[in-house]
Amino acid sequence: MKKQTAMTDNSFDALCASRFSCRSYSPAEVVDEILKAILEDARLAPSACNRQPWRFVVVKSDAGRETVRASYDRPWFADAPLYILMCGVPADGWVRADDGKNHTDIDVAIATEHVCLAAEAHGLGSCWVCNFKPEVLAGLDLPDGVVPVAIIPLGYPGEGVGAPAKVRRVLEETVLYR
Ligand SMILES: Cc1cc2nc3c(=O)[nH]c(=O)nc-3n(C[C@H](O)[C@H](O)[C@H](O)COP(=O)(O)O)c2cc1C
Repeated sequence: MKKQTAMTDNSFDALCASRFSCRSYSPAEVVDEILKAILEDARLAPSACNRQPWRFVVVKSDAGRETVRASYDRPWFADAPLYILMCGVPADGWVRADDGKNHTDIDVAIATEHVCLAAEAHGLGSCWVCNFKPEVLAGLDLPDGVVPVAIIPLGYPGEGVGAPAKVRRVLEETVLYR
């Protein structure tokens, strides 16, 4: 049987606290080894019924980056050296029999946050972006049935950029007990 491991320090708590939506990037390259480690962390994400209804599209080419940038026209977004399109494959997603709910977006969201936390662990900045124009991303010629859910710009944070103070509801307002 596989040995159970547990984090005995508070490094995961620290990671959750330090990750932030990075909206300024340095042009420094992200080496393939780090990119691969981040994609591996995404691959290990849980999914309903282990269907893994996802594709992670790495956009590094000049033409690809141009298309992604046109889908979300913000100066800071254009600075990122690369993007990961977190895509769902709804035809592969688990559907709850009771009410027909397809869980693809939930599965992709979990993998996406794995990417963001892994990026933080490697000293990289990231930001969820869902406010993109889906019709522009059609220019990437994705396979049929592969639907972009979120775009994650990835790169080293720009000079002097750090995590702002977290704005969150307090725990007492967030957690209910019955
Ligand atoms: C599903 C989702 C969609 C988001 N879409 C965008 C977006 O399109 N553009 C953007 O600048 N930030 C986007 N964000 C980032 C949020 O604004 C951000 O996570 C939130 O304000 C909390 O800040 P923090 O990530 O720095 O802790 C999105 C976040 C999530 C989870």
